[in-house]
Amino acid sequence: MVKICCIGAGYVGGPTMAVIALNCPSIEVVVVDISVTRISAWNSDQLPIYEPGLNEVVKQCKGRNLFFSTDLEKHVSEADIIFVSVNTPTKTRGLGAGKAADLTYWESAARMIADVSKSNKIVVEKSTVPVKTAEAIERILTHNSKGIKYQILSNPEFLAEGTAIQDLFKPDRVLIGGRETPDGLKAIQALKDVYAHWVPEDRIITTNLWSAELSKLAANAFLAQRISSVNAMSALCEATGADVSQVSHAVGKDSRIGPKFLNASVGFGGSCFQKDILNLVYICECNGLAEVANYWKQVIKVNDYQKNRFVNRVVSSMFNTVSGKKIGIMGFAFKKDTGDTRETPAIDVCKGLLGDKARLSIYDPQVTADQIQRDLTMNKFDWDHPIHLQPMSPTGVKQVSIAWDAYEASKDAHALCILTEWDEFKTLDYRRIFDNMQKPAFVFDGRNVVNVEMLRDIGFIVYSIGKPLDPWLKNMPAVA
Ligand SMILES: NC(=O)c1ccc[n+]([C@@H]2O[C@H](COP(=O)([O-])OP(=O)(O)OC[C@H]3O[C@@H](n4cnc5c(N)ncnc54)[C@H](O)[C@@H]3O)[C@@H](O)[C@H]2O)c1
Repeated sequence: MVKICCIGAGYVGGPTMAVIALNCPSIEVVVVDISVTRISAWNSDQLPIYEPGLNEVVKQCKGRNLFFSTDLEKHVSEADIIFVSVNTPTKTRGLGAGKAADLTYWESAARMIADVSKSNKIVVEKSTVPVKTAEAIERILTHNSKGIKYQILSNPEFLAEGTAIQDLFKPDRVLIGGRETPDGLKAIQALKDVYAHWVPEDRIITTNLWSAELSKLAANAFLAQRISSVNAMSALCEATGADVSQVSHAVGKDSRIGPKFLNASVGFGGSCFQKDILNLVYICECNGLAEVANYWKQVIKVNDYQKNRFVNRVVSSMFNTVSGKKIGIMGFAFKKDTGDTRETPAIDVCKGLLGDKARLSIYDPQVTADQIQRDLTMNKFDWDHPIHLQPMSPTGVKQVSIAWDAYEASKDAHALCILTEWDEFKTLDYRRIFDNMQKPAFVFDGRNVVNVEMLRDIGFIVYSIGKPLDPWLKNMPAVA
């Protein structure tokens, strides 16, 4: 029986391995992690991450050929194929701080593999890593190899949170990069054979190692760039009276452009986009490509601009101050159908409003109160470390309370800010909400989910990103 071990039981390691286990009953899959709480959660009925369809997949194979364990050394030493799916945060100190990837966790996983292995291994990079990481990992492994042979493969993960299970069952492509040597090609084939259990052959792409590593960074940079492009247009739409949804629709009908990822919003978030672009920028700079680095930096700058612009809209519309005013925050996750808050634009928007002394009542159907408080007190980039190693803030933010539902969050509020596109926000009883709010009552829709006309008829002053401005806002420019 082929044995797979995955180091890292997070958003990528957990779902990916569950789908492999379900589709390959003849393979034993063990997911290991240094976090005891994470592994206990995977072994309980309350999984550590929320992802539609994940529960059902895990239920079918947990205890059959899918296992979760904290015994890293045992399972790594027994495995034929080792996936490494650990955190790769942005460095906050030293060389490359604020841009380069911190490979501490990767390196310690590689050293542990070298220490405990007694047979040849295929080591698969699942984490998103800088180009040439495979070479560094290879050096660590071979310098400690005791005659054991390692083949390193790059198999970056393209799943999107919220649709991870669907993406894993029907991936657009599986990318496998490896050495172009006889042993390298054999290793590529071995991993291909795993995916071939359910992925059509023509969707499995093989490349050299560096192309695979760079393709992941490039794919995320392209996706984020589309969002920043439409968000940049949204500012121009507000200035000119154009409607960004109509513009996106017209632009997206061009088959060369396509309709996806063209929704204007308060900004992109998630653990990967910003981090991967920063990483790309750093690699460009290290290679003397300043113009290329600046080009990609702009994608992040526009994203930051969009979040600032939103906060400024809120404050300038409400008589230039939100001090002491209650604002209902609807949604905190970085997008719908996930409880993930990593780099969610809600953090920057909330911090911006708190900076102007607002009182916030936050509601999200999937994010815990504890997580929200942690996010609002943590320093930039600290979120991307294993949970037990994250610096804990001694106290939460006083001006923040957590609400059980949208009605509680909006009660007596001066304004509502919609920051995640949860479906339930489309069908709330906005009449009831309006009746319970201070007047004038504002709605700032950062995800374009509400029916603007209907809300204006009720009596709300409505701001919706990239849409023709409410007369109230017309002479209140919100440029950062
Ligand atoms: N989340 C996504 O949507 C996504 C998509 C594609 C790629 N990625 C990349 O995949 C990687 C993992 O991301 P994630 O979202 O699953 O992160 P995560 O934080 O959810 O999970 C990482 C896990 O690795 C564990 N870990 C860290 N060091 C370890 C070690 N030495 N030994 C054992 N366990 C260790 C942590 O405890 C944690 O549970 C990152 O490089 C990320 O950039 C993420």
